[in-house]
Amino acid sequence: MTVQPAPAPADLGAPIADWVRIEDLYDDPYPIYRRLRAESPVAWVPAVGRYLVTSFEACHRIEQDADTFSADEEGSLMKRSMGHSMLRKDDPEHQVDRAAYGPVLRPKAIKETWTAVFARNAEKYLADFAAAGPGADLHLGFAAPFAAENLREIMGFRNATQEDLQRWSQTMIDGTGNYADDPDVWAKSAASSAEVDAAIDELIPVLTADPDATLLSAVVNAGLPVEAIRANMKMTIGGGLNEPRDVLGTAVWALLSNPDQLAQVLADPALWPTAFEEAVRWVAPIGMYPRQTTRAVELGGASLPAGARLGVVIGAANRDPEQFEDPEAYNLNREKRPHLAFGGGTHFCAGTWVARTSVAQVALPRLFDALPGLRLADRPAREGGWVFRGMLELPVAWN
Ligand code: HEM
Repeated sequence: MTVQPAPAPADLGAPIADWVRIEDLYDDPYPIYRRLRAESPVAWVPAVGRYLVTSFEACHRIEQDADTFSADEEGSLMKRSMGHSMLRKDDPEHQVDRAAYGPVLRPKAIKETWTAVFARNAEKYLADFAAAGPGADLHLGFAAPFAAENLREIMGFRNATQEDLQRWSQTMIDGTGNYADDPDVWAKSAASSAEVDAAIDELIPVLTADPDATLLSAVVNAGLPVEAIRANMKMTIGGGLNEPRDVLGTAVWALLSNPDQLAQVLADPALWPTAFEEAVRWVAPIGMYPRQTTRAVELGGASLPAGARLGVVIGAANRDPEQFEDPEAYNLNREKRPHLAFGGGTHFCAGTWVARTSVAQVALPRLFDALPGLRLADRPAREGGWVFRGMLELPVAWN
């Protein structure tokens, strides 16, 4: 994702980190986060046109004070690309949309309805992946279609394919990051947005007459206006696909790179949730999200003006040595402490239980079961990103 340099406020109230470059953030943000946190955990970063907040304490404080740190950011490209969803609303408006999701993504529905769907999809996409043979890319060949098909079914897009969801998700996410105003990016994002609208319009009468267990059915029958239905569905397509895909890849990569820890989990399957939680801490799939101050406020040693645009860098907070010992290491035996990968406060991720169940309880154990001797292939694995971060390529081999 590119981020447009925006003009700095007249009175910054924070140090300037003009040495930060977007390309370096994309390749490997962690050395940059270490320096930012040590020098000034709230700094104005000209390259991204925002104050980046990199300490656990300051990120946590932002999440607990939604009156001061608004999610309804001015000039949000997410609103242009996907419409005004709950993610960019403050309470009480945010709560109306969130309540419309009802119990669909919550543990009871996951246990009763969705776990069987995840299991079926794991079976199908693992069989396809195994057929591709050793050397295949686990990221594209398994993690992506598995996450996309799960989301398609939960959301209730019976008139679309998992490939449609992957395309919709990526092109609309590209729109939310299109600060360069590239017309081609806008055209693709708008085309996907129109396809989602058409799919929803077709399903509204069907689900009104005959409600089912899906998210679309819940929001339609909760009586949300059609614009809110569309925006929230688009945001959920953008936010519910890449993240489970990416944490799945990261967890596999971390375990294959740490054979002692892999052996430990294989010997004690009760550790799969711990392996998942440590993966999501270690490489937060959503590394940064925006907030804007509603008043002048002191934060992390900086004096921010009202209207300041912030990047809440949870990818950095999750590696803050004040919160985690030896934070750069993947270590499933570390002391259990709260991380911020799912956000916090009023916008705490609504899909947390979907992600935990589909990845930790279903995909990871079945993957290692289905492909004995799973290991990294000779071709190197690659990861990238900082706003969103995950594997770009994960070639693996097995016996
Ligand atoms: C490992 C997987 C996931 C991670 C790390 C993750 C992370 C996050 C984070 C950090 C936020 C808050 C962003 C902010 O405050 O600006 C969020 C919000 C949200 N996530 Fe997730 N997510 C994941 C999976 C999912 C899935 C699978 C779904 C849907 C099935 C989903 C649906 C949502 C929704 C609807 C929100 C908005 C909540 C609100 O505004 O109240 N997420 N997620």
